[in-house]
Amino acid sequence: MSEPKIEVLFSTDEIAARNAAMATEIRAAGFDDRPLVVAVLKGGFVFAADLIRALHGAGIAPEVDFMSLSSYRAGTTSSGTVTVLRDLETDVAGRDVLLVDDILESGRTLAYAKQLLLDRGAKRVALAVLLDKPVRRVAAIEAEFVGFTSPDLFVVGYGMDMGHAYRQLPYIGHVIVSK
Ligand code: IMP
Ligand code: MG
Repeated sequence: MSEPKIEVLFSTDEIAARNAAMATEIRAAGFDDRPLVVAVLKGGFVFAADLIRALHGAGIAPEVDFMSLSSYRAGTTSSGTVTVLRDLETDVAGRDVLLVDDILESGRTLAYAKQLLLDRGAKRVALAVLLDKPVRRVAAIEAEFVGFTSPDLFVVGYGMDMGHAYRQLPYIGHVIVSK
């Protein structure tokens, strides 16, 4: 088996332009001056890092916290159960929260996270995802802000992994395994 090749689906420049546009959309949606950005780890960290800088450009000064959730184990399919591996430090009661993650696929992970934050008294929880894979949806949830609609392929890069690899790629790609 030779080295896997990566087909670029969304380039670094396309992602940067989309982040800036999303920040403008988020601004227009009338968030608090100081919303709480909750970045979902691990996959959402690169997107969240760029999105908060784009938010700065749009005049929003967010507070940032992190939550590590797992619905995937070692493989590439969802187990269906969501576990909080690392919880927030911030009290979300009364806050405007922007929940930021890499992909909305089955929706189980973000449906769980959104409900958890609402149960804790968040005033508003909106979802910003880099990629939406609508054909894979199981839970009844949509994101208010979507970077790109993804083809139904397993994607890597820009924070997203396959077996713990490829998170460092500055673009979003699809792994082509040649035999
Ligand atoms: P779901 O929406 O609960 O099915 O799961 C979404 C999570 O699964 C995302 O936050 C990713 O961490 C992971 N995931 C889903 N599809 C992909 C993919 O194509 N590449 C890498 N990770 C993925
Ligand atoms: Mg994830």
